[in-house]
Amino acid sequence: MVKALPYVQKIQPYIPGKPIKEVERELGIKECVKLASNENPIGPSLKVIKAIKDFLSIPSEVARYPEGSGYYLKNALCEMFAKKGIDLTHDEIILGNGSNELIDIAVRTYVAPGDEAVMANPSFIVYAMSITSQGGIAKEVPLKEWRHDLEGMLNEITDKTRIVFIANPNNPTGTINYKDEFDKFIRTLPEGILIIVDEAYYEYVTDKEYPDSLKYFKEGKDILILRTFSKAYGLASLRIGYGIAKKEIISEMNRIREPFNTNTIAQIAAEVALKDEKHLKKVLETNERGKKYLYKELEKIPNIKFLPTQTNFIYIVLPENTTSKEAFDFLLKEGVIVRPVGPRHIRVTIGLPKENREFIKAFKKYLGG
Ligand SMILES: Cc1ncc(COP(=O)(O)O)c(C=O)c1O
Repeated sequence: MVKALPYVQKIQPYIPGKPIKEVERELGIKECVKLASNENPIGPSLKVIKAIKDFLSIPSEVARYPEGSGYYLKNALCEMFAKKGIDLTHDEIILGNGSNELIDIAVRTYVAPGDEAVMANPSFIVYAMSITSQGGIAKEVPLKEWRHDLEGMLNEITDKTRIVFIANPNNPTGTINYKDEFDKFIRTLPEGILIIVDEAYYEYVTDKEYPDSLKYFKEGKDILILRTFSKAYGLASLRIGYGIAKKEIISEMNRIREPFNTNTIAQIAAEVALKDEKHLKKVLETNERGKKYLYKELEKIPNIKFLPTQTNFIYIVLPENTTSKEAFDFLLKEGVIVRPVGPRHIRVTIGLPKENREFIKAFKKYLGG
C-alpha cells in the first residue's frame, strides 16, 4: 500500500473541539453549550449576514471565481489601518483561508526538510504540525510562568533556524509577552529568520504593555503578523485571516498561495465586518463582562488555579487528584463542551452569560461544590 512520507507519519492529527450536534446526538441531550474552540458566541452582525445573503441571491455571481487578490477586502484593511495612522499597501497584505493557511504557506515558503523552527509549548499546535509536515524540526521551548520564555527560545536558535513562532496572546494560556521583552527578543534575533507573530486574539487584548508588532514591520524586520476574522469578528466558519509583512515576504508567499484561496463569501463578510465597529465593540464588551463573571466565580472555587486572560478564553489548572479527561467527560455529560489542553488543564471559551453560568454550574458539580 502507498505510504505517507516518514515525517508525515509522525504528525498527530489535529483534534478539533467536539461539534455541538455530535455531542447532542451521542448523549441524547439538547441545548448543549460549546465553549471549546474560542469561537465568538455572538457571531457576526446582521449587516454581515445581509451582505452574504445579497451575494447568494445572484446566481451569476456565485458562479464566478473569487476576486483572487482580495482587492476590496485589502482596501478595507488599508482603510482600517489608515485610521490608526498606519500606512499599508495591498502588496504588504496576504489573505488566507483562515490564518491557519497562512502559517502553512509561510512554512512551505521558508522551511526545507531538516530546517528548524522554534516555538513555545504549550502553544498553538498547528505550528509544530505544519513544520513537521514539511520535514522540518519543531523545537519546542516550555513556557516560563505560563508565558513564552523568549530568552529560552533565543537559546534554541541555530544556523538551521528559519522561523520563530510567537503566539501573542498565547493559546491555550491566554497570556501575553510584554513590550520590553519582545523588543529585546526581536533586536537580539539573528538576521535571516522569519518571526511569525500570531495575533489571532489581538482585538481582545487590554493590557497596555502589549507590544506593537507593526512597529517592527515598519522598521523592515523579517516579521509576519497574522490576524484572523475567526475570533472577534465571528467568522470562523467562513475561514478568513490575513498576514502583514514587507512586500518581499508577501510576494514570496504569494508564489505558494493557491490562486483562489479565499472565497467570495468570506471576503465580503470580512469587509463588512471590518467596517462595523459598533458590532466589534459589543463583542468585546460582552467578552469583558463574561470574563469578570467567570473570574468572580472561579475565585470562589478552592484548589483550582486560573490564568488572567487577554483573550476570549480562560486556562484553568484543575485540583491535584483530577485529570482533564475526567473533567472533560463529566462536563460533556452535563452538556458543556470544554477543551482538555494538558494533563490537569482545561481551556474554556468565554461565552454568553447563560453559557458561562451553565459552565460554572457544571464545573462546581464536577468539583463536588
Ligand atoms: C493562536 C491561534 N492562531 C491561529 C488560529 C487559527 O485561526 P483561523 O481560524 O484564522 O485559522 C487559532 C485558532 O484557534 C489560534 O488559537
